[in-house]
Amino acid sequence: MTITVIGSGKVGASAALNCGLRELDDILLLDIVQGLPQGEAMDINHQLSERGSDSVVRGSNNYEDMRGSDFVVLVAGVGRKPGMTRMDLLKTNAGIVQDVASKIATYAKDAFVVVVTNPLDPMTYLALKTVGAKKSKVFGMGGMLDLSRFKSFIQQATNVSRESIQAMVISEHGENMLPLTRFSSIAGIPLHDFISKEVAADIFEKTRKVAAEVIALKGATVYAPGNAVATMVESVLKDKKLVIPVSTLLEGEYGISDVCMGVPAVIGSGGVEKIIELKLDSFEQEIFSKGVASVREAIKALPL
Ligand code: LAC
Repeated sequence: MTITVIGSGKVGASAALNCGLRELDDILLLDIVQGLPQGEAMDINHQLSERGSDSVVRGSNNYEDMRGSDFVVLVAGVGRKPGMTRMDLLKTNAGIVQDVASKIATYAKDAFVVVVTNPLDPMTYLALKTVGAKKSKVFGMGGMLDLSRFKSFIQQATNVSRESIQAMVISEHGENMLPLTRFSSIAGIPLHDFISKEVAADIFEKTRKVAAEVIALKGATVYAPGNAVATMVESVLKDKKLVIPVSTLLEGEYGISDVCMGVPAVIGSGGVEKIIELKLDSFEQEIFSKGVASVREAIKALPL
């Protein structure tokens, strides 16, 4: 089996490294930049060799090499610059994603596809429609990354082990992100038993804003996205059936159809095996609805 990562920039290389460290499978790094995937593959292989991981990473500039891949991570495209929103990348990345997704349809049409390129939810929809696969096999990595940040802020606010924290973030991987304090817990104990409403509101906002802060400081987010991708790939390849938020096509769930949106789902060997519908309160529903409206608007502008 092979995991192909299309886009060998910082996030793509991080995803390849994290999949290799977990020894999920052999990995192919693809990019149009001559030498970049090959150099990243060499560097990652050196680390994996010392760690004793037998995942072998190859680099290539030839899309045909992804032929027969079981898993494709689509991270090709432009990352946002300081001060930009993810949605600002819509026009630039739509053409790239459509082109790459058409190559996936040609060379790896039966593969699972995890989309990472921003704006995540519209790009997931575009990739799904272009690849032409079942909706369970093409989904996006957004909420998995957002909950990483949410957990970090919960830990800072409660001073408990990160291992004891369960967190959930749904909706748009963007301005209408919805960190769910009501559905987060510490060892199964509701988070609200540990923090005040004011602290909950504070970490809610911090979770939404922190990616932009990292980008302003270091130019890009790298390690957390790569780890989030590997967690999703691992849940499929090992049939772990993790319940995690993913961007997936809604067909009536949450009363929504024909939009890709971040929702909790069971992720196993069938990909998105089951969408979990949460009972949202009025505040949560309002934000979720704004996320749907934002993504639906973006989808209208896609070259479909
Ligand atoms: C972030 C990018 C990957 O949230 O959207 O870091």
